[in-house]
Amino acid sequence: MARWIHASARSASILCPVTEIPEHLLKRSRERREAIGQGGDAPSDDAAPSAAVQKSASAAPAAAAPPSGPAPRTAANEPAAPKAAKPDPHYVVAAKQRRKVPFWAMATLSLMPVWGFMYVRALTDGGEVAAGPLAGGAEIYNNCASCHGAGGGGGVGYAFSEGEVLKTFPNIEDQIRYVYYGTEQYNLAGVDVYGNPEREGGAHATGEQGVMPGFGGQLTDYEIVEVICHERYTLGGADPTSDEYAAEFEAWCSAEAPVFVAVESGELNLIDLGEPEEFSVGAETVVVNPVGPAPLPGLPGLASGG
Ligand code: HEC
Repeated sequence: MARWIHASARSASILCPVTEIPEHLLKRSRERREAIGQGGDAPSDDAAPSAAVQKSASAAPAAAAPPSGPAPRTAANEPAAPKAAKPDPHYVVAAKQRRKVPFWAMATLSLMPVWGFMYVRALTDGGEVAAGPLAGGAEIYNNCASCHGAGGGGGVGYAFSEGEVLKTFPNIEDQIRYVYYGTEQYNLAGVDVYGNPEREGGAHATGEQGVMPGFGGQLTDYEIVEVICHERYTLGGADPTSDEYAAEFEAWCSAEAPVFVAVESGELNLIDLGEPEEFSVGAETVVVNPVGPAPLPGLPGLASGG
């Protein structure tokens, strides 16, 4: 019997939550019982209490139960029982009684990280959310940043920042044409200077700095307009409110720019356009020059109206 309980406690303590008693204590208790003439093989439930007897008998100086009778066994048996029924501490009781989070609150709580993300985004964006071509252009510029620098500071290709790109291309159409065809096509067409020939600081000759890939066909026409708006206004620092650039900005790069909208919808094809086309922007008229089916030399000054 004792063997069985002992073995099951060892192998399946989940089924039989009996505190395991060290072998040496059992042995001692058995010897002790043998010594007082009770026999070694006591019933199973004797194992624990008899160990307790050992302890109390040796600890208690009163020696109310000298090791000569069965009395201490029954006396020690009683206190063992209430031990199991020990009440939960007050904090465990409180935890058990506490109301759980209701399911609808869980749904709300699960959205907290999303809200946190949006909150941080709103703070760091500073409310300066670009709309129209400038928003798209900032993304498309990922195709250009490796050579021209994330902030347009230059690299393999020229810098755009601090007005550099505006010096090369006073006319936005010349810049569109150059990005559309790239260095190779300009070389093939025999165009030596792709931008302003009277450029402050010297004209940029085709192939002088390296090879600029052509993006016509890789990007749509309106995506090229978008990225060029980004290069001129966000990176190059053109002032959309200045006399020089206000008309161009309103026509090409503002949120509802009519030229951009026409290119995006397919109404205006800058490549196939045979003749300059006029667009009215507010009280002004802006002339859009064709990009054309082949590279052309850049023009000095502002060719478009405004
Ligand atoms: C592989 C590198 C590379 C990539 C990518 C690249 N460029 Fe260029 N870019 C150049 C080089 C090199 C030049 C100078 C070319 C020359 O000397 O003919 C240049 C020149 C230019 C110029 C003329 C600048 C000036 O002041 O003369 C513009 C505008 C331009 N790139 C726009 C873009 C745009 C827009 C993109 C992305 C859609 C882009 N580039 C991607 C290398 C690159």
